[in-house]
Amino acid sequence: MGQLNAVLLHCRGGFEKECAAEITERCASVGVYGYPQFEPSQGYVIFKCYQPGDAEQLMQSLPFERLIFTRQWFACLPQISDLPTGDRVTPMLEWARQLPQAAELMVEVADTTEGRELQGFARKFGSALSQGLRREGLLLPRKQRSDWRWHLFVLDGKTFWFGATRVRNSSPLAMGIRRLKFPKDAPSRSTLKLEEAWLHFLRGKQQQEKLVPGMTAVDLGAAPGGWTWQLVRKDMHVIAVDNGPMNDDLMETGQVEHRREDAFTFAPPKPVDWLVCDVVDKPVRVTELMLQWALNGWCREAMFNLKLPMKKRFDEVESCLAHLEEQLHLAGVGYRLQAKQLYHDREEITCWLSLTS
Ligand SMILES: C[S@@+](CC[C@H](N)C(=O)[O-])C[C@H]1O[C@@H](n2cnc3c(N)ncnc32)[C@H](O)[C@@H]1O
Repeated sequence: MGQLNAVLLHCRGGFEKECAAEITERCASVGVYGYPQFEPSQGYVIFKCYQPGDAEQLMQSLPFERLIFTRQWFACLPQISDLPTGDRVTPMLEWARQLPQAAELMVEVADTTEGRELQGFARKFGSALSQGLRREGLLLPRKQRSDWRWHLFVLDGKTFWFGATRVRNSSPLAMGIRRLKFPKDAPSRSTLKLEEAWLHFLRGKQQQEKLVPGMTAVDLGAAPGGWTWQLVRKDMHVIAVDNGPMNDDLMETGQVEHRREDAFTFAPPKPVDWLVCDVVDKPVRVTELMLQWALNGWCREAMFNLKLPMKKRFDEVESCLAHLEEQLHLAGVGYRLQAKQLYHDREEITCWLSLTS
């Protein structure tokens, strides 16, 4: 197993640079050194570790949730290329013997146009390979619990990255993508961002504990109301702050109060359970605004987007989040902060701040 020297990281196409900068920095923080390789817009990054076996160790020592720009990851064997097109399964069995035991194989492609074109082949080959692996007893029976899951990343009919990830330290979703159906009566596509954020950050019982009917919320930059729609769907009472018009049907629910005010000067009449913010502004300004709400005790939970600048996007995110944490720490405010570039995010990331005291 000393061959797992590289890590494959899925990211949004166009964000390879950020994904690469982030993994390089996070790896260094746990004593793993290496270098990233990628082509612009290919939708993934390969991080090559200098020390044999480091990639496998990384799957244990670096919490996946710390990675903002990575959707999914796995430690991989050297790239498999020139697989004979006649019988691709047999040589793969030999590679599989070098991986830690697993009960599941996930077959993936890059989230790009070229990647999507390979999906049909990937599905067919994945199913043939799974059968072969199970027949040989290499892949454990489905019901058996295992710490590892195998991943096969298809580059073309002859070229693959094959490897393993820790089930509990990775995304449970293929390519880390959560596909959601657009609710037909929601006022904007943005609605999917908040839905995905809740599904991503609130795990298990937190869904019920933190999204309770009757709770109160403020939505900053609310128009036309996609996020407010999600809050209303959870039976919350919402103050929607935006100079723009809100969707009429949403207003007719009687659960929304529309305030045509500036999000940066608005103060809630009393503290609320949830603050959500999708205002398009500089990340530094939005960070200060979130800090103001947290330090004043105006909300218990906040879900907000940071719209990324054109340049130095990783540095900007790092500095905004570090500032937020530093100020909360100095003020003695207990919190949990997580951030992710979600599938429905574009030039932005989503942050969840949960205040604990
Ligand atoms: C991306 S849209 C929000 C979409 C909304 N979340 C939805 O799901 O329909 C950004 C909104 O922020 C509002 N906005 C921008 N600056 C603002 C400010 N200073 N105060 C209040 N709203 C602002 C804009 O009017 C716009 O409606």
